[in-house]
Amino acid sequence: MEWSETYAIGLGAVDQDHQTLFHLFNQFSDTLAKGGGIDGARRFLHELVDYSRYHFQREEAMMRKLEYPDYAKHKRMHDSFADFVHKTAETLGQEPDDISFLQSYVEMWLCGHILVMDKWFGEWLEAHGQTNAEAVPTS
Ligand SMILES: [Fe+2]
Ligand SMILES: [Fe+2]
Repeated sequence: MEWSETYAIGLGAVDQDHQTLFHLFNQFSDTLAKGGGIDGARRFLHELVDYSRYHFQREEAMMRKLEYPDYAKHKRMHDSFADFVHKTAETLGQEPDDISFLQSYVEMWLCGHILVMDKWFGEWLEAHGQTNAEAVPTS
């Protein structure tokens, strides 16, 4: 997955998190491509899930603070992605088809979520004059 400005939602902290997610995904994919198998790649998959949860919490805290109207829907999408990837990773065997399904799912979900859902949030922030939202404490 290659980062480009197309993915930018206009909030530095969020955009940086997304780049880290791309990086972790690429480490996962590279390990698979080099024949490391799921055992070799599992570490990066776990890091990807952990970092996703951290990032989702950060985004959600911002949304709650700013009373973003689509917060509940957005959070449901985060939760279902993190749960699905976590559960699938736990039970994943060595079948190449299963691994490539998970790989494609993560890639498509991340791209789609950032380009649609996270961008809506970015556009809402802009429309409501909240482009300095990253200054909002998120704890
Ligand atoms: Fe995000
Ligand atoms: Fe999101």
